[in-house]
Amino acid sequence: MGTKRHFRVWRGDESGGDIQDYDVEVNEGEVVLDIIHRLQATQTPDLACRWNCKAGKCGSCSVEINGKPRLGCMTRMSTFSEDETVTITPLRTFPVIRDLVTDVSFNYEKARETPAFAPPAGVAPGQYRMQQVDVERSQEFRKCIECFLCQNTCHVVRDHEENKEAFSGPRYFIRAAELDMHPLDARDDRKQYAQANQGLGYCNITKCCTEVCPEHIKITDNAIIPMKERVVDRRYDPLVWLGRKIFRR
Ligand code: SF4
Ligand code: F3S
Ligand code: FES
Repeated sequence: MGTKRHFRVWRGDESGGDIQDYDVEVNEGEVVLDIIHRLQATQTPDLACRWNCKAGKCGSCSVEINGKPRLGCMTRMSTFSEDETVTITPLRTFPVIRDLVTDVSFNYEKARETPAFAPPAGVAPGQYRMQQVDVERSQEFRKCIECFLCQNTCHVVRDHEENKEAFSGPRYFIRAAELDMHPLDARDDRKQYAQANQGLGYCNITKCCTEVCPEHIKITDNAIIPMKERVVDRRYDPLVWLGRKIFRR
């Protein structure tokens, strides 16, 4: 038999809304998404939320829990004290569709803007070969589940709607870094592209993106900072640039 705990949940749509109070039963081992489902099953059948896998792998259930961007399905109720009110609100950086569901198409637009992998000329699909060590170098970035918690938390767009056009965000910086490390990617200007077209310069390395990533991808240390360093090298030190050009192959 569970215990009743107090929850606050944002209800509304694009025209506005507010936080509403609910008392919901909580059982041992449950996660916040279980509570949302219990609310739907008992008190609020029209409560909108997005979810799919309930295993931290689809990236659908992103919400803000007590103000922190998190996956609902991976946030255990045992992380809160028994008398703590748990407040669940939609991602703040994206427009609300209804209740806990936001319109994340900003991210899909940024994905479309990022130039795709460009295979080397003259090598047919099926003939690409790369060393295991090169596969492993960018493996970390391919763990991304596209939950967009990093995109939601980055202050460059979280508090500045006007920056959205120029800033692709941490999820697409790791994509640029991944392609930059790819030995078969024929574009050799991923860093420059990130700087000139993805708004890499807006990032002031606050690392909030890394802190919220449920896949523990070291977004700032392993993708953003190395790209920033190399952009600076190239821009200010022609010898470094020339050296890289010569010793690349
Ligand atoms: Fe989510 Fe991490 Fe991917 Fe960002 S990098 S979208 S936080 S999994
Ligand atoms: Fe934003 Fe991450 Fe940079 S939170 S400012 S992209 S380090
Ligand atoms: Fe898939 Fe939470 S429901 S990550």
